[in-house]
Amino acid sequence: MEPRGVGILGAAYTRFGERQDANMAELAWEAFRDAIAEANLEPRDIGPAFVSNMGMWSSESLPAVLVSEALGLGGGSMRVEAACSSGSAAVKAAYDAVASGGADVALALGVEKMKESTTPTVVELIGRAGNYMWEFENFGLTFPGYYALYATAYMSRYGAREEDLCGVAVKNHYYGSLNERAQFRNRITVEKCMSSPYVAWPLKLYDCSPITDGAAAVILASDDFIRRHGGEVTWIRGIGAATGTANLSRRADFLGLDAARRAAREAYARAGIDPEGAARSFDLAEVHDCFTIAEVMAYEDLGFARRGEGISLVREGQTYKGGLIPVNLDGGLKAKGHPIGATGESMVAELHHQLLGKVGGERQADVRRGSALAHNVGGTGHYAYVTVLSLEGR
Ligand code: COA
Repeated sequence: MEPRGVGILGAAYTRFGERQDANMAELAWEAFRDAIAEANLEPRDIGPAFVSNMGMWSSESLPAVLVSEALGLGGGSMRVEAACSSGSAAVKAAYDAVASGGADVALALGVEKMKESTTPTVVELIGRAGNYMWEFENFGLTFPGYYALYATAYMSRYGAREEDLCGVAVKNHYYGSLNERAQFRNRITVEKCMSSPYVAWPLKLYDCSPITDGAAAVILASDDFIRRHGGEVTWIRGIGAATGTANLSRRADFLGLDAARRAAREAYARAGIDPEGAARSFDLAEVHDCFTIAEVMAYEDLGFARRGEGISLVREGQTYKGGLIPVNLDGGLKAKGHPIGATGESMVAELHHQLLGKVGGERQADVRRGSALAHNVGGTGHYAYVTVLSLEGR
């Protein structure tokens, strides 16, 4: 049976940052309230709810039931976890439920309260999500350390400099300064980034995404439902998903993420995008800049630049508005923040509003192509999801 068309009727993300003012249910409600208002639906209209959350750092251990009860949902719920790409995995689960005919309306909702724990605890817990037995226990690798390995490999092979990586942080802080829901609203310079303390050489404080609380929600519906219900819609044209090894010794190189390349290929095939012309197919992209080097690798894994040339996009400012492909106009993980379970939905929510022209102001992209891409990575390339959104349905 041909899958049904799936559109987004409503989406939202909360203010990211330290959110001690809201417990997990209240944070989820904040995102859901705005998404359901945009969708013009009632809680009883929502079918299954996929709640993305990594959660080891916070007190609530069954977020799906907590969130469903608080939001007045009764259509079945479950927690979804794919490390830092949990949010995109939840969007895919909701997409599959609707595309298959299993539900008319489904919710992907991510919520994370990382600030309930101290930095050393969070760094350790994320580190254990790399490769626990060999790399965490034996070598004490944490995530800044993992991405430092990618950065040194890339710098050594392609001659990138620390200043170049700082260019990614400067751009993302610039757009974060324009986004009222971003964790960091301060603009920085390359000099400020260069003089920030090393976390894991060559990555400094300003090369890292922060520890964040936040929630985001995406409401998806079938083409038939949308025709009856109406509303301003963006369509999911294709999702690519891939799983990679959790063991660094099994990686071919440290210059890119194989899972991200495979996820992109699948998403492009489903959406009818020519991989050779990927950068010119989209009005903007959200990419997974958990560390600045990750954004550069994403440019190459997505085909926006040839291998070794992603860093030129940074040097030439090609990923600012007006460049070849604007990237992370919400501030990215770096400045908007990275509440792990909610990041994927927040990327999709941002693109939904960008395509509909609802962002406005200096952050609003020129959306004449009507198409946008989200790239969300879990672990050090353990999981990858690439989602293509469009103003046009099938
Ligand atoms: N970028 C810029 N500034 C940051 C920052 C970041 N990533 N993280 C913290 N800060 C700022 C804080 O706002 C604070 O500023 P202030 O002194 O002006 O108030 C200062 O740095 C110290 O903040 P603190 O919360 O004590 O930072 P920290 O030293 O505890 O944590 C990191 C910094 C980089 C270790 C932490 O953010 C981290 O582990 N990030 C990576 C998270 C991660 O691995 N996520 C998964 C990725 S796949």
